[in-house]
Amino acid sequence: MAYSEKVMDHFANPRNVGEMEDADGIGEVGNSKCGDIMKMYIKVRDDIITDVSFKTFGCGAAIATSSMATELVKGHSIKEALQLTNKAVMEALDGLPPVKVHCSVLAEQAIKAAVSDYYEKQGIDPKDIVGEIPEPIECHLED
Ligand code: FES
Repeated sequence: MAYSEKVMDHFANPRNVGEMEDADGIGEVGNSKCGDIMKMYIKVRDDIITDVSFKTFGCGAAIATSSMATELVKGHSIKEALQLTNKAVMEALDGLPPVKVHCSVLAEQAIKAAVSDYYEKQGIDPKDIVGEIPEPIECHLED
């Protein structure tokens, strides 16, 4: 399966790239098998994610899913951001090849990790709010 035009677009022209100096929450996640790392930064005002950016050291699909995930949560409430699933990110990109599904899981994890960090910095235990951060799934590099 080839990459969709949307994946290629977000890979070639990723949105919201870069570090955020004054982030309210930072989430860093990685897949130990493929070694890719995704870092997500969020700015929060009145429970709304007013700004978001990312830095991804990873494959093209990891970059495209990070980029799309930032677009999907920007300007939305924390509650909505926490409902973002890797499936929704993949759908927004018109799909990913099966061997690249795990890359989209990183994007979901990274958003949740950034929100967790935001709550921790506020002195709030994020466990009950953020819920389970999905486990990394197998990376089929050999396929
Ligand atoms: Fe592992 Fe894409 S994040 S190959």
